[in-house]
Amino acid sequence: MINLTREEIRARVAALGPWFHNMEIDGVPTAPDHFLGDYPRTKWKSFADAIPQDLTGRTVLDIGCNGGFYSIEMKRRGAERVLGIDFDEGYLAQARFAAEASGLEIEFRQMSVYDVASLGERFDVVLFMGVLYHLRHPLLALDLVGEHVVGGLMVFQSMQRGSARAAQVPEDVPFWTTALFDDADYPKLHFVENRYAGDPTNWWIPNAACVEAMLRSAGFSIVERPEREVYVCRKTGPAAGEGAVHPARGWGRATGGNSQTGSDA
Ligand SMILES: C[S@@+](CC[C@H](N)C(=O)[O-])C[C@H]1O[C@@H](n2cnc3c(N)ncnc32)[C@H](O)[C@@H]1O
Repeated sequence: MINLTREEIRARVAALGPWFHNMEIDGVPTAPDHFLGDYPRTKWKSFADAIPQDLTGRTVLDIGCNGGFYSIEMKRRGAERVLGIDFDEGYLAQARFAAEASGLEIEFRQMSVYDVASLGERFDVVLFMGVLYHLRHPLLALDLVGEHVVGGLMVFQSMQRGSARAAQVPEDVPFWTTALFDDADYPKLHFVENRYAGDPTNWWIPNAACVEAMLRSAGFSIVERPEREVYVCRKTGPAAGEGAVHPARGWGRATGGNSQTGSDA
């Protein structure tokens, strides 16, 4: 636990900004002007009951942990080990400060979701929140997360646009059936070539049917949908098709390959 005056905290918060996660660190808000309000606390309130209150002895992986809001909440529920990963060092520095200031021992590591296989570990709870639409290869990431790190629950969230109805997806469709693709409820992943909301890292925005179809296709069953954008899932089968094809032989698998590069070199 760091011993800082309110003024010192305020100065550290300012120096580490801008923040996406609004948290109160000893009464100092980190992102009081967030465009979504008190975020992600308002979101968290809507699905907090869908995650076990007592995580004693459990392990948690928070993918795209940002300023550490969810990692901190998981640790507060008694999780034995919480690992937050993000590829942005600036956000990780915020998360480290927020956890330290809260007196919580949480590991934060710079890592991309595409590299989760290198962890060589499955976690009881995996949070994969608000990351999918920032990825150029979203289904690959979902396949990798399911194949390598989900050991129990996965709590998934994505921004969604388009129809909110998740229609039944047909088993097969004849080649000449084309009207289906104009149906707003059919699974759709909207590609953002330029920008959405001024953010150059928004790439693919699914509708509700697409989120559910992608989760199923990656081998997940949806256990609960506590909030419009949030899905609690379990891995109940393999991913369809080839599954994750990167890294070609898995990180550190006993293939004689180089565990750092995933290659045979
Ligand atoms: C919209 S924020 C979501 C943060 C938090 N999970 C939440 O739900 O509030 C997206 C986060 O994903 C991170 N991110 C984006 N691409 C990533 C990648 N390939 N691997 C790991 N983190 C990534 C960003 O740096 C950012 O912190």
